[in-house]
Amino acid sequence: MDKMLLLLFLGLAAEICSGLDNGLARTPPMGWLSWERFRCETDCTTFPDSCISEKLYMAMADKMVELNLKAYGYEYVNIDDCWPAKERDPETGKLVADPDRFPSGISALADYMHARGLKLGIYEDFGVQTCAKYPGSEFYMEIDANTFAEWKVDMVKFDGCNSDPNDSPYGYPTMQFYMNKTGHPMLYSCEWPLYESKKPDYALIRKTCNLWRNGHDIGDTWKSVSSVIDFYGDNDQNFSAYTGPGGWADPDELVVGDFGLSYYQQKAHFGMWAMFSAPLLVSVDLRTISQEALAILQNRNVIAIDQDPLGVSAKRLDGMNLPNSISVWTKPLADGSTAVAFYQKGNSGRPTLVSTTLANIGLASGNGYNVTEVFDGKGMGTFKPSSPFKVLVDPNGILLLKAVPM
Ligand code: GLA
Repeated sequence: MDKMLLLLFLGLAAEICSGLDNGLARTPPMGWLSWERFRCETDCTTFPDSCISEKLYMAMADKMVELNLKAYGYEYVNIDDCWPAKERDPETGKLVADPDRFPSGISALADYMHARGLKLGIYEDFGVQTCAKYPGSEFYMEIDANTFAEWKVDMVKFDGCNSDPNDSPYGYPTMQFYMNKTGHPMLYSCEWPLYESKKPDYALIRKTCNLWRNGHDIGDTWKSVSSVIDFYGDNDQNFSAYTGPGGWADPDELVVGDFGLSYYQQKAHFGMWAMFSAPLLVSVDLRTISQEALAILQNRNVIAIDQDPLGVSAKRLDGMNLPNSISVWTKPLADGSTAVAFYQKGNSGRPTLVSTTLANIGLASGNGYNVTEVFDGKGMGTFKPSSPFKVLVDPNGILLLKAVPM
């Protein structure tokens, strides 16, 4: 391990151990993030409208206002990799935004967001370089935390490329310490578990970070999205046990509205992220998004499941033996009701009938339940725990229900 980091960590351990109490992310954060859709395109001559530049983030903020997305809870506009100049300021050691692509600077961009009631997120990496080989924060964490605070940045995503994986348990808390020390609240999104060399210490990660990415980068394909869902089902001890107000496991961005998913797959993706109490950070071009995809992102019933104040992440009920790769997931909600997802990973070609009972999925309240379909808000009727309960589940799709005890 890097000696300097170790000394720093030991020196600061007492304060760090008091845990993360920045008051942020009481519910999963919502907003927009550039990475999956816009990547690291820096050629603004050939791609003036989609290169990583202040113009792109301003355009997305304008669309967030125009589409009224703030009213649904979407507020962060987050810069990802490739925003800085290749060199730090030689005198101060500070990061500098690329002068051609961000001529007004990050502070002005933060003002732009704040004037519209939005927030600005930025990206850095605790290694010597970011994943795309821009200057990293190693040896500069205090300067970088201060710079982000000075710029009035509201959220920091901290990646782990080009670092020693053994350093993660020291590097991430060190950045947290310096961010706290600025006195400027910044939501802290860590990629720590992804770069951890050992089994991640989720208790420590939760104390340190508001969000933690535990899986690989999402791609705009059903294979990628469905593998993230499997990963959550297989790891519910690690993920659901630590998720809650102030700290959330992050299955990565939403790709709703991009190129790779069908309408039904987009619904399943959004519905399952809501079941996970996941951050809803959508990586899409808001200038060209379809009405259909927008309606999914603006579904208030589904958003309410995601933002439920209890903050529990759904668990998959294993051993149910359902047809066509269907799994059932349940998530208790703050009002005493339960969100239930019937999710069909595979494509059986037509909606699949599932015949079960509510008791079989752990809903045993004697008076029974009033059940509604969440996406369209339609009532399905009332059911005793032992009465037959039959549903149709779309291929590569989701049937998302809310069961309210009577
Ligand atoms: C890693 C992260 C991504 C993105 C890229 C940027 O791959 O996991 O989310 O931030 O780096 O280079």
